[in-house]
Amino acid sequence: MVQSMPPGSRLPSYRDLQERYRLSPATVQRILADLSRRGLLVTRPGSGTYTAQRRQAPAAADVSWQTLALGSRTGLSVDLERLVDPGPADSVPLTSGFLDERLQPLGLLAAAGARSARRPQAWSRLPPQGLPELRAFFAAESGGSMTGQNVLITPGGQAALSAVFRHLCAPGDPVILESPTYVGAIAVARAAGLNLVPVPGDEQGMLPDVLADALARTGARLVYVQPRYSNPAGAVLAPDRRVAVLEAVARHGAFLLEDDWMRDFDLGPPSPPPMASMDDDGHVIYLRSLSKPVAPGMRVAGLATRGPVLARLRLGRISDDLFVAPVLQQVALEVLTAPGWIRHLGSIRRLLRERRDALVAAIGASLPECELPLVPAGGVHLWLRLPERWSDVDVADLAAVRGLSLSPGSMSFPSEPPAPYLRLSYSAAEPPALVRAVQILAGVLS
Ligand SMILES: Cc1ncc(COP(=O)(O)O)c(C=O)c1O
Repeated sequence: MVQSMPPGSRLPSYRDLQERYRLSPATVQRILADLSRRGLLVTRPGSGTYTAQRRQAPAAADVSWQTLALGSRTGLSVDLERLVDPGPADSVPLTSGFLDERLQPLGLLAAAGARSARRPQAWSRLPPQGLPELRAFFAAESGGSMTGQNVLITPGGQAALSAVFRHLCAPGDPVILESPTYVGAIAVARAAGLNLVPVPGDEQGMLPDVLADALARTGARLVYVQPRYSNPAGAVLAPDRRVAVLEAVARHGAFLLEDDWMRDFDLGPPSPPPMASMDDDGHVIYLRSLSKPVAPGMRVAGLATRGPVLARLRLGRISDDLFVAPVLQQVALEVLTAPGWIRHLGSIRRLLRERRDALVAAIGASLPECELPLVPAGGVHLWLRLPERWSDVDVADLAAVRGLSLSPGSMSFPSEPPAPYLRLSYSAAEPPALVRAVQILAGVLS
């Protein structure tokens, strides 16, 4: 009614409106208040309520001045955006490393959310390091003798990586990354203006001799590694290499950032305990995020380490964003300590195993020219080597047109890739969709 009346028209009285539309006084009041908020009505005290003057649709804004003000985009990469973008709703999603809703503990989250939101502390200030009981949980996860005192809670693993890279290094400093590695680690290192030093790995993880050389040559003080089911290659760092990597890091007076992102995702026999459990001298900074085992929206992670580096990171984290929402920390704690949590983990492992096996079998049956250098015993990705003549980006683009979202492997290399790869995630698609995905890929490659 309001929009069909000319601007400046007086509205009927409250009582008329109630009678004409058979509404309660409260409903009439709520509707009028809502229209006023949207700028469609104005109230003139003592006179009545009138329809507002129509606003001219704004002309296209002139934001061209920002081109000069922003300058060129240094350090920020669009690759990560591709990973967090959910993609078209009707495509088969093989890009996300997050669990889909079928694998999330939605019941546990709902109950924990309702209980946590009712606690008065949920909305208060917390010590910036985080909720003590949650810190104790992460300390225990690091597998050694650290306690809750050694832990800082961060709003997710990405924020933790960013804090470590920015607060322990200065722009221009070298940082060693295994190659290939997590796109997001490359992104934060670039955004921090660091000099990325790639160290290659194979099916058993990073090569310790090359690492030792790189430490000696560059003087890097920070090494980033994922010893368990690395993203994207799926490698588990072999026990003898763990010793050699730690020895090289210690000899060169460096820190090792251990990103244990797949802590809960052994799909077969248990993988080795965290490297943090092998270090008493504060070389390892242990990172454990909850966004993978719980849900992508669970933006909570723990960083655990020893020595003055903890104080440096604590101050850095406070300067970044003070502290993580207490209500979310409380929800995380309740989920992790709920009786159903371990059972839930068991069931997601079983379902992920089925997905991985379906994907591996479909690749074996339909992609004879592609190679899987490794079938990981855990995690959520396969790392597929394409025939040499293909570009990974072209394949991903062609697949996208046919309704399949894929991650080109080149994004995961800090420098030029040695061969074309695709990263295929099975955390967000069920076996029939994975088989369909492989058929689409086979169609693209044929
Ligand atoms: C290896 C690795 N580390 C860290 C992260 C970031 O985790 P979070 O979602 O907790 O920020 C990701 C996300 O995909 C990842 O793959």
